[in-house]
Amino acid sequence: MDRRDFIKSSCALCGVAVAGAALIESCKKPAPAPVVVNFTLDLTNSANSALNSVGGYVYSNNVIVARISSAVAAASFVALSEACTHAGCTVSYSGSSSHFVCPCHGGMFDTSGNVVSGPPPSALTKYKTTLSGNILSVNS
Ligand code: FES
Repeated sequence: MDRRDFIKSSCALCGVAVAGAALIESCKKPAPAPVVVNFTLDLTNSANSALNSVGGYVYSNNVIVARISSAVAAASFVALSEACTHAGCTVSYSGSSSHFVCPCHGGMFDTSGNVVSGPPPSALTKYKTTLSGNILSVNS
């Protein structure tokens, strides 16, 4: 094997190694959903202003909280574990489809956290929401 062939085969091996590492990375087990959840969100705080509009959402404590309707009631908010059950990517909320969507492989969940389509093997964990004035509480 001459020097040129050695360099070519070495580069090919490096490519295989990089691709393998990327594959292993993409197949990581997702982090488990938080078991104990207990936090509040002040809806007057600018950090939570997205929750004042239908379709808006925020992340807190590994939970995604979304506004699904305009009524001023706890039922207008949904809180689910934010890590997709397939490979752990962070889901977002689509107000136009009323689904939680995963950007990695197209997983889709309904507002109860149930899998609607795609590869996720199980539902997202749903947490309780209660509203008292402008304070939204999220609890397991
Ligand atoms: Fe694969 Fe969410 S990580 S669908």
